Amino acid sequence: MSSIFDDSIGTKSLEKKKTLVVSAPAREDELTVASHIIQSGGLVVFPTETVYGLGANAYDASAVMGIFKAKGRPSDNPLIVHVSKPEDAENFAYTTTLFYKLAKAFMPGPLTVILKKRSNIPASVTAGLDTVGVRCPSHETAHRLLSLCKVPVAAPSANLSGRPSPTKVTHVIEDMNGRVDAIIDGGECEYGLESTVVLPTGEDSLKILRPGAVTADALRCVCGDVTLADGADGSDIEKPLSPGMKYKHYAPRSPLILLDGKREDVVTFVASEMKQKSCLFICYDEDAAPFGDRALTLGRASDEASHAHRLFDCLRCADEIGETKRIDVIYTYMPAKGEDGLSPAIYNRLIRAAGHTVMKL
Ligand code: TXA
Ligand code: MG
Repeated sequence: MSSIFDDSIGTKSLEKKKTLVVSAPAREDELTVASHIIQSGGLVVFPTETVYGLGANAYDASAVMGIFKAKGRPSDNPLIVHVSKPEDAENFAYTTTLFYKLAKAFMPGPLTVILKKRSNIPASVTAGLDTVGVRCPSHETAHRLLSLCKVPVAAPSANLSGRPSPTKVTHVIEDMNGRVDAIIDGGECEYGLESTVVLPTGEDSLKILRPGAVTADALRCVCGDVTLADGADGSDIEKPLSPGMKYKHYAPRSPLILLDGKREDVVTFVASEMKQKSCLFICYDEDAAPFGDRALTLGRASDEASHAHRLFDCLRCADEIGETKRIDVIYTYMPAKGEDGLSPAIYNRLIRAAGHTVMKL
């Protein structure tokens, strides 16, 4: 049997670690141990309200290199730095009035703000950029851990590079057991999609680099000029402002196809495909019944928050089913591109998970 370390992402030489798994709810003494691991250069996976993060001391270049190795992440994709309170950003970034306005409105919460970095943040964290992403998560366990660490914590999503971000501890264990020093269980992540990443471009203007649960309309209540950066809608562009936007992301192992048509036509099409192929259907609760165990459900059709919350889990469930059964294709609805709410975030993740494969019905 091949081990998880014989993978194709260049982590063959990784030494297998003994991973401590802390069950939920984490006790204070367990979080203290986890904070000591981070302070001494180790890797700790912790829950946040968006997705699980794979954390290391952001001041420690060699610990940060460990993150890239554990994930098999390209070194030109920068990491977000996590703090327990927005003011802590002062220690490693040049804060601005707009940063504090955004922090007052949305932190702690699912927002990352890009700021000019100070020199104490190693280049490996920011992939050589002169900016750094700052995020202050609202998840209680993340907040307690970050307070105990007393250093900023660099943390990307805790998935192997290219896989869907982890929203449950089982996802993390699947990808990271043996690769990190500790995993803290914090239950299912509330939002299920990564934070909104914004780049301030002036005193009262910003660009959204990655859409998330903090929506464009919400940002407009604080900032006069809010625009979506090129590529942030999920389209492919050569030089995105956020390096992460150029990578293949979230893709399940079987091909995912987005079906562009009326919902009832999508259901009819998938039912007919099921007769000829081994398919899975990622669908709304109301459409699931005819498909039995071939349906992976996103929640009720009208419940966008549930779609966001469940999407990555559905993609991972599809992979799990694919381990024991042949799966020719996974179908789901072409999401609405939308301007506001969670639509842009869901669209961005799905279009990339599908590698832009859309079938017009
Ligand atoms: O919700 C989240 O943001 C999660 C949790 C763990 O906090 N983290 C996360 O990290 O999603 P990651 O590394 O998977 O995604 C970070 C994204 C990448 O697309 C990266 O390119 C972008 O943020 N990014 C980070 N620093 C940047 C910078 N200085 N300039 C532009 N983009 C940056
Ligand atoms: Mg990620």
